[in-house]
Amino acid sequence: MLKGLFITIEGPDGSGKSTQIKLLKDYLQNRGYDIVLTREPGGTKISEKIRSIILDKENKSMHSKTEALLYAASRAQHVEELIKPALKDNKIVICDRFIDSSLIYQGIGRNLGIENIYNLNLFAMEDVIPDLTLLLDIDMNKAKKRKENRGNLDRLESEKDVFHEDVFNGYKKLKDLYPKRIKTVKANGNIKQVHEEIINIINTFLEN
Ligand SMILES: Nc1ncnc2c1ncn2[C@@H]1O[C@H](COP(=O)(O)OP(=O)(O)OP(=O)(O)O)[C@@H](O)[C@H]1O
Ligand SMILES: [Mg+2]
Repeated sequence: MLKGLFITIEGPDGSGKSTQIKLLKDYLQNRGYDIVLTREPGGTKISEKIRSIILDKENKSMHSKTEALLYAASRAQHVEELIKPALKDNKIVICDRFIDSSLIYQGIGRNLGIENIYNLNLFAMEDVIPDLTLLLDIDMNKAKKRKENRGNLDRLESEKDVFHEDVFNGYKKLKDLYPKRIKTVKANGNIKQVHEEIINIINTFLEN
């Protein structure tokens, strides 16, 4: 039995996931919750090694199917080694990206099909599906500007504009796929405003 709580944060590049997940961790820790903060691809030594293969800009010739399988492989290790044990241990796991990123980036962005990617990942994650997913909803231009302030872009971040447009449109549709699990957060505001919206959603969720 998994007794903990599994929360994921999703959204396009530059939507503020990593910023907000740290604030959320501090908020929940201050309230006495036992938190495990992790990210995908990554979260374990092996998963982080797979991450570096996926994101390496030298790997220009990587096939989209290889990419999808590597994400799933990284996830399988992450689930077995870190997420499942933490949930069994009654912890709250908050993860920066998870299955939805694969559905959007590989299913839609790479055109492999959402259903194919879902089935592939079902083998990797089994019944470890998020209890709650915070989806940061941001205007494309705003996210682009935030990203521009950062230097070195990885292999996925350096993809052409049409790929990122497909990802943005994909995220817009995501909530309709999982209306119960996914809560949309307006992410155009400043860091504090977005944090407060997340806190409201979390508190409502924890009360129920
Ligand atoms: N609400 C905000 N307003 C303005 N700038 C922000 C806001 N949230 C985050 N930023 C800044 O925008 C940049 C991107 O934020 P962050 O790294 O949290 O996004 P991300 O969703 O994790 O991106 P990625 O998917 O590429 O990891 C950072 O420089 C961050 O400081
Ligand atoms: Mg990030």
